[in-house]
Amino acid sequence: MKKLIVANFKMNQTPSQTKQYLTKFIAGFTGNRADVVICPSFLSLPISTFLTQGTLVKIGAQNVNDEEEGAYTGEISAQMLKDLGVEYVIVGHSDRRIKFKETDRLINKKIKTALKNGLKCILCVGESLADRNTGKTLEVIRHQIEEDIKGLYENELESVIIAYEPIWAIGTGQNANVKDVENAAKVIRKVIFDSYSEKASRDIQVLYGGSLNEKNVGALLNCTGVDGGLFGKISLSVNNFLDIANNLK
Ligand code: PGA
Repeated sequence: MKKLIVANFKMNQTPSQTKQYLTKFIAGFTGNRADVVICPSFLSLPISTFLTQGTLVKIGAQNVNDEEEGAYTGEISAQMLKDLGVEYVIVGHSDRRIKFKETDRLINKKIKTALKNGLKCILCVGESLADRNTGKTLEVIRHQIEEDIKGLYENELESVIIAYEPIWAIGTGQNANVKDVENAAKVIRKVIFDSYSEKASRDIQVLYGGSLNEKNVGALLNCTGVDGGLFGKISLSVNNFLDIANNLK
């Protein structure tokens, strides 16, 4: 099966830069080795969904509001994203958990609203360095997933992807090792097994993210139980990301 690779641009790339990036990416992407989702800023979504229409490249948002609509000045709803042709949304990224104080309760609500509006959710979970140093990694991941997907029906899990993103590995140049990633993938599947079924635990897509680059991507994305990766910094270079997307083993 092909791997799923997701680019999270974070607060980088203007709409014009995203336009240039996608024009080049679409022309060079073969689609033979991986499925690709690109998540630019909200402002770049209209040009992105327009340019990728009818291509193999899918577009995701980096955030969504938990409410359907209403007096939430400055916010973006799931329905608006869907209307633009956006297919995915990243939820629970540690940037948002930490810098924007998002709680598991809010993340759970965002996921429910996004799913209700036909978006696929890329749920990020992962431990801090302090959790890791005190041996709490697996406990933290389990707790986050249980809280974040609370109340979802089993069939809704088909539209949920879980990304293991240890906080200490994000943007630090310090990736997790194969054993860390395999253990995390195992726990993620076990949580799904315990709350749902054997089938659901097998079918759920699990990604790894945190300082992925062209050198470590082969080993980390081929870990047992891992279906793909979430890329930050390296994905900002269209040449690097194309190289990874086209040559993944
Ligand atoms: P990074 O970011 O690849 O720059 O570590 C990953 C992420 O935040 O998803």
